[in-house]
Amino acid sequence: MRPLPPGPRNRLLYATRYARDPFGWSLRWLERYGDPYTAPTLLGPQVVTADPAVVETILGADPDVFDVVGAELLAPVLGAASLILLTGERHRAARKLLAPPFHRASLATLAGPIVELARGRLAELPRDRAVDIQDTMRAIGSDVIVRVVFGVTDPTAARALTAELLALVETLRPSFMFMPVLRHRFAGLGPWARFQRACERSQTLIGELIAARRARGAGAEPAGSPDILDLLLGARWADGAAMTERELWEQLMTMFMAGHDTTASSLAWAVQLVHRDPAILARLRDEVAGADAAALAEAPYLEAVCHETLRLCPIAPYFARALRQPFPVAGVEVPAGVGVGIATIGIHRRPDVYPDPERFDPERFLGRRYSPAQFLPFGGGARRCLGAALAMLELRLILGTLLQGPPLRLTGDGAIRATVRNTTVGPRGGVGVAYAA
Ligand code: HEM
Repeated sequence: MRPLPPGPRNRLLYATRYARDPFGWSLRWLERYGDPYTAPTLLGPQVVTADPAVVETILGADPDVFDVVGAELLAPVLGAASLILLTGERHRAARKLLAPPFHRASLATLAGPIVELARGRLAELPRDRAVDIQDTMRAIGSDVIVRVVFGVTDPTAARALTAELLALVETLRPSFMFMPVLRHRFAGLGPWARFQRACERSQTLIGELIAARRARGAGAEPAGSPDILDLLLGARWADGAAMTERELWEQLMTMFMAGHDTTASSLAWAVQLVHRDPAILARLRDEVAGADAAALAEAPYLEAVCHETLRLCPIAPYFARALRQPFPVAGVEVPAGVGVGIATIGIHRRPDVYPDPERFDPERFLGRRYSPAQFLPFGGGARRCLGAALAMLELRLILGTLLQGPPLRLTGDGAIRATVRNTTVGPRGGVGVAYAA
């Protein structure tokens, strides 16, 4: 058997460098070691590629070849029933169950409510000082999940639930995620105990939500279009069993975890990127002026700006699959147990696909589509982001709504700096903005 391709050797140094500068180091490793290289991740070695032709073979392979990387570490945090951790038939069944409300056509009615939620939070921006726009975006992203996925329409109840879920996320720590030995309550003190208490509080709130739905009557038609909680309550596994309360909570929390911070980081970067370039900003403001929610959802330049943001600053600059059986990656037979990694950032910065790749240039997305192996901010294959259409809708509507408001200016130097935030990547130090004088 051929040895694995070369790559950095020190696992801790690798992890520290990735955490500190995920874009820069991912690109440096590709340049230094070639494509593919072997990454010594804390979850084991992974053979990494940024070659679209090779990526096509990975994304097009039988999904049963792959396992979830780090499932045993994530299970106690996300829950074993979480869609992110399911594999095989159970994963296929859960996706089939959960996907319909996330289709583009099913989302059309949500444009108005999303704009309303964005306007509410943006109106609270202070006039007299700088803020980190990522915090505002995180609040809007959470509001959207609570409204769309959990179906909470009462504004006070929705805000209370959002606050509780954001507090839960604040208690997540890489220490106990990567070191299971730290998952002890230590007499109620310490990060794991705090996380557990936050989980229990959110479980109680979501339990009440579920009880209220059930009290409405089994099988009763929901008042409006069914939200995802309605669908989950009515769903049955192949053996006829309904989801338990614990399973329901795990799926809902998965949507929240996967859906709020990802959107917020992408939006914060979009705000930063467009405010660095007066010509792009002026063209965008012109396009969105006076547009209602439906028009924002269809605005072509706004969409191109969102795509270009996701290209230049992907929140998952890298994603991986564990192998259940040997799999060829660019002529190297990678053995079972090893991972295969796709360096999205490396693909998104390829000059043969995206000329002058460091430049923020939304024009490249106008009237042009890239293949699923050339543009993959939402991953790909059987595990492609379930919320991609919702995320794209949110990006357009929330950025568009912000640009319809009073002009803002950046308070920092505008340089793109990335850092690892929980399991994804976002702007290091946030994105400071203030109202333009
Ligand atoms: C800009 C925003 C977002 C980005 C860039 C993003 C990106 C991603 C990526 C890269 C993956 C991994 C895909 C893979 O392994 O191939 C993923 C998975 C996932 N995302 Fe998103 N996401 C976003 C927003 C959302 C939203 C709003 C939701 C739902 C409310 C969501 C739900 C999920 C779920 C459930 C998965 C797991 C899918 C599976 O394992 O089958 N995401 N996302």
